[in-house]
Amino acid sequence: MTSPSREEAWTRIETLGKRPDAAAIRRLFAEDPKRFERFSRRAGDILMDFSKTSISDEVMDSLLHLARAVALEGQRAAMAAGQTVNVTERRAVLHMALRAPAEAGFTSGDEDVAAEVETTLSAMRAFCESVHSGAVRGATGETFTDVLNIGIGGSDLGPFAVLRALWNPSMPMRPHFLANVDGHAWATLKRRLDPKRTLVLVASKTFTTAETMRNARLVREWLAEALGEEALPAHMVALSTNLKATAAFGIAPERVFGFRDWVGGRFSLWSAIGLSIALCCGFKAFSELLAGARAMDEHFLEAPLEDNLPVLLALVTLWHVNGLGLPAHAMLPYDDRLARFPAHLQQLEMESLGKRVTMSGLPVGRATGPVIFGEPGTNSQHSFLQLLHQGTTPVPADFVLVAKPEHPYRQNHQLLLANGLAQGEALLRGRDSDEIRAEMTAAGALPADIERLLPHRFFPGDRPSTTLLLPRLTPHTLGQLIALYEHKVFCLGALWDIDAFDQWGVELGKQLAGVLLPELDGDKPIGEHDSSTLGLMAELRRLQGEG
Ligand code: F6P
Repeated sequence: MTSPSREEAWTRIETLGKRPDAAAIRRLFAEDPKRFERFSRRAGDILMDFSKTSISDEVMDSLLHLARAVALEGQRAAMAAGQTVNVTERRAVLHMALRAPAEAGFTSGDEDVAAEVETTLSAMRAFCESVHSGAVRGATGETFTDVLNIGIGGSDLGPFAVLRALWNPSMPMRPHFLANVDGHAWATLKRRLDPKRTLVLVASKTFTTAETMRNARLVREWLAEALGEEALPAHMVALSTNLKATAAFGIAPERVFGFRDWVGGRFSLWSAIGLSIALCCGFKAFSELLAGARAMDEHFLEAPLEDNLPVLLALVTLWHVNGLGLPAHAMLPYDDRLARFPAHLQQLEMESLGKRVTMSGLPVGRATGPVIFGEPGTNSQHSFLQLLHQGTTPVPADFVLVAKPEHPYRQNHQLLLANGLAQGEALLRGRDSDEIRAEMTAAGALPADIERLLPHRFFPGDRPSTTLLLPRLTPHTLGQLIALYEHKVFCLGALWDIDAFDQWGVELGKQLAGVLLPELDGDKPIGEHDSSTLGLMAELRRLQGEG
């Protein structure tokens, strides 16, 4: 539903975005020596600096006006109250309940959400302790040293990103992830695993995802071959909402850690899906991760819009997408431990916000979620940052900087941080012809060479970035950081009036794969397809010797 004030708010933003100086940032810094203070905010351990964007007071007013016009606070309250905010799947959205104390009072209809969350967490804690103490062992009596998480999408990316960030070899168990159905993934991974010492977690919200079930069967065969069928119950655990399917797969009920459909896949790392984190880093670290996320939840639920980090992060993106018409967004953590964070955000943001119709099914009428991509710095500098500096379309970037490392190599860390800061500064300030001429002249270049190279060495500047600064990367600060982006996604869904919690767009390809598989295998005659698909199938079958 559109309201007059909502349309008026959109018009204001779009009109401001069309001004000739809408993307100018240097001018804003020149006019306001206090720009950093005025356009940065803190919540918990995170400092967010969005001064290196073209958001002025006037733009911020219009963005906040839109947030009020869409009743963002009311929509936030509806989510927290367990209302059906995922309208197309008729589900509540309660991942916040997974990290809340019982007294926070999350409910879903008549369900006692808090009690169920507590029961699952207690079971996870007890299981971790038993595995770590050796009370729970493999079928041959050996202690478990390795955890293999089989899952894909939200049942892989969140736990993988967290373990990449927090795990080190002094921790209780070694993590491994099997997501891709490509047999090469398993063929490589199995060489590193000893079945006697491997605990297998089949992580799937639905327990029907084709790739996960295929890989689960493959790994089950591997265990059975090595240890015998009777060993399977000791080695296999399920993390799922589908208790019927876990039972049908043969996983003992006491080895199933459940959650509910009010936890979206890409928001599920805080649920039983996070068991790999708790096993590999220890339950204490998992609890601290939850507590960090809870701290961000409290901030999100309580802080006024103009000081609310997730709201502001969402509004900055909205300005770039809808005000300035920028279709992509780069995630640049300057911390190698956050190497998988961009991959997690790719799913979180694009599966949530890659929508073209409103809640009521009408065309949105304006751009929604941008393309998200990223790599840690400084690797990204030697890869795609060229395009951010000199490409034809500006790409806003989020930098994540961590002040103190957990290693002793101070010079490396300072070099890393200096590079992170330098990229943001370079994107902002650019480099004009006078500077280039002066530098090249000082270096002894010939005037003709200077003029020839000038356009190539020119940096337009005024390219936007936002920086998130953390004191350290700990379970607690990581929890805050991930929750910050989860709530950003919620806010953008509310602002664009799209369902950020469904993912119908992944279904068609799954269905077509189901049709193509028996045709490719020769079990069924080839059906009707476009000539490209037919041509490729024929060539594949020929190359496989079946054509
Ligand atoms: O195909 C998309 C998706 O449904 C994601 O939303 C989800 O995270 C992933 O597949 C895995 O689903 P499941 O946990 O049910 O196996």
